[in-house]
Amino acid sequence: MSRYLLTGAAGFIGARVTELLLEHGHQVVGLDNLNPAYDVRMKQYRLGRLQALPGFEFHKVDICDGRALRALPQGAPIEAVIHLAARAGVRASLEDPWSYVETNAVGTLNLLEVCRQTHIPKFLLASTSSIYGAEAPLPTPEDADSSRPLQPYAASKKAAEVLSYSYHAMYGLDVTVFRYFTVYGPAGRPDMSMFRFTQWIAEERPLVLNGDGSQSRGFTFVDDIARGTILGLRPLGYEVMNLGGHEAVRMTEVIRLLEELLGAKAHVVQQPAHPADMPASWANVEKARHLLGWEPRVSFAEGARELVEWYRRERDWTRTVATG
Ligand SMILES: NC(=O)c1ccc[n+]([C@@H]2O[C@H](COP(=O)([O-])OP(=O)(O)OC[C@H]3O[C@@H](n4cnc5c(N)ncnc54)[C@H](O)[C@@H]3O)[C@@H](O)[C@H]2O)c1
Repeated sequence: MSRYLLTGAAGFIGARVTELLLEHGHQVVGLDNLNPAYDVRMKQYRLGRLQALPGFEFHKVDICDGRALRALPQGAPIEAVIHLAARAGVRASLEDPWSYVETNAVGTLNLLEVCRQTHIPKFLLASTSSIYGAEAPLPTPEDADSSRPLQPYAASKKAAEVLSYSYHAMYGLDVTVFRYFTVYGPAGRPDMSMFRFTQWIAEERPLVLNGDGSQSRGFTFVDDIARGTILGLRPLGYEVMNLGGHEAVRMTEVIRLLEELLGAKAHVVQQPAHPADMPASWANVEKARHLLGWEPRVSFAEGARELVEWYRRERDWTRTVATG
């Protein structure tokens, strides 16, 4: 049994990683500031489920507040910091780049300092496929150029990655960086296409599609991401790995599948492509397979069905979640 400090515990991926760790009999100290970047009821819902489980302890803390982090109550030694808290999403980072740099760069630095000062040997960082910029080869390997990320979000994650490297180089901190590719699943982010499209089709609202729908994403089911994240807790030195689905799915295909699963027609309203959106993303996951024995298990069709089933079960409130 190990004890982990996990940031972003009320977030989409953080909550699922926490659930799996608790199922494996570990203890999790979860941090989150429950900010209103999207409908806070989603965070409260996830947190409520975690708080019903044994082995979970929660602190409402802002990771940008170094003093608050240092004041956290000490308990049994922490095996690793699993750092998933972030300002996430490419589009919103054009509107408020400051909060992205503050949370994703300074917040990460604060947690690296927690590791250094309290002798926590392992740091796991969530980074993003957006870091590869516009010219990435498909499927994209980790050694593709990531020195020219396009959006402030991706730039702030690059800062987090290289800060983590410097703590590895200077203090011997063991670091795993995961570049996640478009994650979806039950209780997902309401600012992302899978949740929005599900709600808009189910509730017969206009489905706003940016671009002509030919854009594709390496959609990855949240359980695959959570399982890979936990595998990354082993000692590795310093490694950067992609975690992404096998399939790159076009938006037109996403809409078609959701229509089929929901038994309803999408009322598509086409708008110009968003300048922050990439035309395509698709992971090469050879490295995670080689180092961790990981590969995605859940097909897009299966994962989309799970999301739709969850949405329907919770529909009395999910239909009112703000999706922008
Ligand atoms: N979902 C994806 O497709 C995806 C893809 C690539 C990378 N990622 C990365 O994975 C991680 C988790 O993403 P997610 O989709 O679960 O996002 P999320 O927004 O659902 O979760 C992040 C959590 O961090 C918390 N948080 C934000 N700022 C904080 C702060 N200053 N102090 C404390 N808590 C704070 C938020 O309240 C939220 O609950 C993020 O680092 C994100 O950048 C996600």
